[in-house]
Amino acid sequence: MIALVDDIGVAYDDAGAGVPLVLVHGFPHNRTLWAPQAQGLVDRARCIAVDLRGFGETAASPPFGMDRYADDVIGVMDRLRIQRAVIAGLSMGGYVAFAAWRRHRDRVRGLILASTRPGADAPAAIEKRRAMIQLAKDRGTGAVADGMMPGMVGKTTREKNPDVVEAVRTMCASASVAGVVGALEAMMARPDSTPTLSTIDVPTLVVAGDEDALIPVSEARAMHEVIRGSRLDVIAGAGHVVNVERPAAFNHVVSEYLAGLTLE
Ligand code: MLT
Repeated sequence: MIALVDDIGVAYDDAGAGVPLVLVHGFPHNRTLWAPQAQGLVDRARCIAVDLRGFGETAASPPFGMDRYADDVIGVMDRLRIQRAVIAGLSMGGYVAFAAWRRHRDRVRGLILASTRPGADAPAAIEKRRAMIQLAKDRGTGAVADGMMPGMVGKTTREKNPDVVEAVRTMCASASVAGVVGALEAMMARPDSTPTLSTIDVPTLVVAGDEDALIPVSEARAMHEVIRGSRLDVIAGAGHVVNVERPAAFNHVVSEYLAGLTLE
């Protein structure tokens, strides 16, 4: 489905019934990242998975930035007449969730922060992003996907689940160059969300895979320590795309989190 948000059509899927749960993918993913949740959580939540601009079926229409992505997500909620939702973001999706919290906190019922970190890019990370932009322009997003795959899934998945590795690679390689470049520039420019953490006063679940090579579990532990009343779950045998690598375990902790929300 497509929601017209300001200047562009934002693609989304809307399945299930219950607490609205808006699912925001990472880089360079699209909304199909959340297929295991859209299938496994439909009895517990209304799962709305969104394609950020430049990914999946949402046009790569500038401007790009965490604030713009967050406004697009809230725009989809507006079109669906959803006042408040739990916002779940994986990795870059978590950066978008922080922006949504800063800009639209009255619309945020809770947060699920998966495989993400609050800090801005250090100079070395900015250099890597510049190199990746060049790679995308010179050799396309297949090369970007190949470069990212060793960190994108954990050791256990690489050894035991080649189909998952291939599916994730295919998703990453299907991204457009414009969308990838836009997102890399947006991530380079993103603010430090560390001061945001202590302002979060909605129920928050922090999830990480213990084999995540892109964002270490220590980031999840540190966020959990600062976000008041948050719950932390570290899922064994999963890497960065924890929701895809261990879908049943991920859905289980999300279900428990959702069950703990008070009715409204
Ligand atoms: C992601 O998965 O969204 C990215 O790895 C995040 C990042 O590069 O900072």
